[in-house]
Parts: sequence; C-alpha cells; structure tokens
Amino acid sequence: MHILITGGAGFIGSHVVRHFVNVYPEYLITNLDSLSYAGNLENLKDVERKPNYRFVKGDITDRSCIESLFEEHRFDGVIHLAAESHVDRSIASPQQFVLTNVVGTVNLLDAARNCWSADYGGKRFYHISTDEVYGSLGNEGLFTEETPYDPHSPYSASKASSDHFVRAWHDTYGLPIVISNCSNNYGSYQFPEKLIPLFINNIRLKKPLPVYGKGENVRDWLWVIDHASAIDVIYHRGENGETYNIGGHNEWTNIDLIRLLCEIMDRKLGREPGESAALITYVTDRAGHDLRYAIDSSKLQRELGWQPSILFEEGLERTVEWYLGNQEWLEQVTSGAYREYYETMYR
Ligand code: NAD
Ligand code: DAU
Repeated sequence: MHILITGGAGFIGSHVVRHFVNVYPEYLITNLDSLSYAGNLENLKDVERKPNYRFVKGDITDRSCIESLFEEHRFDGVIHLAAESHVDRSIASPQQFVLTNVVGTVNLLDAARNCWSADYGGKRFYHISTDEVYGSLGNEGLFTEETPYDPHSPYSASKASSDHFVRAWHDTYGLPIVISNCSNNYGSYQFPEKLIPLFINNIRLKKPLPVYGKGENVRDWLWVIDHASAIDVIYHRGENGETYNIGGHNEWTNIDLIRLLCEIMDRKLGREPGESAALITYVTDRAGHDLRYAIDSSKLQRELGWQPSILFEEGLERTVEWYLGNQEWLEQVTSGAYREYYETMYR
C-alpha cells in the first residue's frame, strides 16, 4: 500500500504522517508538500529516517508535477490535506486560496482518475475538509452531514468548492472518494498564527492577547491526535462516496477558552494568578466572523466506532506543556529560521 499524503509538513498533516508511518510500517507513505510558510519539516524529525517514509517537495497547483508523480509512483490512495488554512490570510489575499484549495484539489483529482481509471479496485481519494463549509450556527443546533453548505470567508468558500469538486469526480467519473469535515484542531506543531499557539506564545513573551470582537464566538475543539485517529478509521473503513463529520463535542466561547489558557499558563510559568489574563486586549472583530461552530459526529461514532480519546482540559494542559517544552521550535517558527531546515536536510 503506497499512500500519498499532501500537506504532511503542516500542523494536522504532520500528525497524520506520523500516525500512518508508525502504525502501518508495511505501508509506504509519501509526503508531498510545497513547504509554504505553514510547512515545516522539523515537525517530522522523528520519522524522517524511517524506511517507509519519503518526502517530495512539490506544489499541488503545478499540474505537470502532480501528473508525473502519479505516473511514477502509481499510488494506491491519497489523503489530501494540503491547503491554505488560515481565515485571516484568506481575507487579506483570497487568490492563493482559490489556486491551492480549488485548482490544486482538481489537479489531484484528475491525476488520481487518470492513474486509476482502468481499475478503481482498492483505491481511495480521501479529502480532508472543515466544518466551516456549513457556515455559522445560532445558539442552538449542530452541523450534521446534511447541513446545507453556506460558507462565508474566502477560506471556507474555497474549501466548500473543493468538496463539491471531489463529489463531482465521484458522481461523474466514479472516483472512489471519501470526505470528512472536522472542527477546530488544537495540539503540538500548530503554526503560531492560530488562536491557541499564538496566545501561548504571546503569554510566554508577555505580549497582548488580541481577542476579536467581544470574544463570544464559539468553536468546537478537537485534539489533533484524535483527528489523526479519525482519519485512519475513515480512510480504512469509511463508505465510498460518504461524508463524515468529526468533532469533539467540546464547545467553548473564545473568551472562556482564553481565560482557561491564561490560568494554565500562570500555573506552569509560576506567575501570579491573573497575570496572563491582564494581557487580554479586545480588538476589531474579524470581517464576516462566524458566530458558532458545533459538530454532530454521531454518524462517525455510530458507523465506525470512533470517539475522542481525551477531555479538552487535559488536552489543553498537554498542549501548553508541549509548547513550553519546545520553545526552540516556537522561536524557529516565529523567526522564520525553520525555512533553513529543508536546505540543510534535503540539499
Ligand atoms: P496548515 O496550514 O498547518 O498546513 C497546510 C500544509 O499544506 C502546509 O504544510 C503547507 O506547506 C502545505 N501546502 C500549502 N499549499 C500547498 C501547495 N500548493 N502544494 C503543496 N502543499 C501545500 O494547515 P492545517 O491546519 O494542518 O490543515 C490541514 C487541512 O485540514 C486543511 O485542508 C484544512 O482545511 C483542514 N482542516 C483544518 C482544521 C484546523 O483546525 N486546523 C480543521 C478542519 C480541517
Ligand atoms: O473550524 C475549523 C477551522 O478552524 C479550520 O478549517 C481552519 O483551518 C482553522 O484555522 C480554524 O479556523 P478558525 O478561524 O476558527 O481558527 P483561528 O484559530 O484562526 O480562530 C479561532 C477563533 O479565535 C475565531 O473565532 C477567531 C478568534 N481569534 C483568532 C485569532 C488568531 C481571536 O479572537 N484572536 C486571534 O488573534
């Protein structure tokens, strides 16, 4: 079994690569990543020398690169995570999101179809998507797999578009696909521009914590390692053509989460209670900011038996411990020095 994982040098992708390389030593895992600002091979130092792991630097928007990769390797499966993933960046520069998330996905779909069309048996194209495609909830209700798409940001519109293309390749060409839509992930190796690692880093450096609007927006947080285990289950046992929602049943308003994070950080850093919370600064809200996301993952639990392994409070403690124990990683990422790693390692 030779699986192509795209975006494997990013936050979730690196956990998925690590999981598959370690749990399935009999599989060959090829990680394709363009090493954009969010891609960091240091995230994979512990597996880079394993015999069943390979890295290819390549861009999914480069059609001929993708075609030749498929021609050369004849992959059995694809787990597609490569994407532009940050909502704020999509508001500032949407074009790159269309190119990577939409055109890049279509390039992969076409390459898989051309490579596999003689015999789709045993093949699988697994597209990793987000709950943001469903839009925003009010105070009640949960996103199910039947919730109509209603994306608001350029990021979520590009992800929604890519989901539609994946389904179209299934319905039109018979490509064996599966899609999952997951809620907000947290954990180690997340680029410190997203809420939790950004705020851990700012608290560490005693910098302001910029809370958008009133901090009342709600997100449903899932430990990234639980997302990787859900991806394993869906890749192996999900039904062809189906969609599965993945979530933690774990809703937090941003401000409650930030206060909890501040308490944990005060304790771990030996600071006075309330010292970190004093850094909270309310700033202008994100444009088009979705109010609430919450996932109904009962289909995945009922049909495939997956559930999250740890409670959020424990996962957040572990996450804080990881960033505080890996401050060099944070320094490298925030200074940009991590970009030199590829040159040194893969020259
Ligand atoms: P990330 O930004 O940390 O990583 C994205 C990776 O894709 C990086 O390694 C980057 O170098 C690579 N990449 C970007 N453009 C590329 C291109 N043109 N060609 C090849 N590689 C490219 O993102 P993440 O948070 O790990 O998210 C991974 C996937 O999971 C995305 O598809 C995202 O939409 C989805 N997702 C994320 C979350 C979350 O909370 N982070 C939740 C649900 C779904
Ligand atoms: O729901 C899944 C999505 O979760 C993924 O598809 C995205 O790739 C991922 O980035 C994430 O999107 P969010 O926009 O929800 O995540 P972010 O960490 O950027 O923000 C979380 C919440 O915190 C959101 O309501 C905005 C708020 N926020 C964020 C930042 C960076 C702040 O208040 N201040 C900040 O500085």
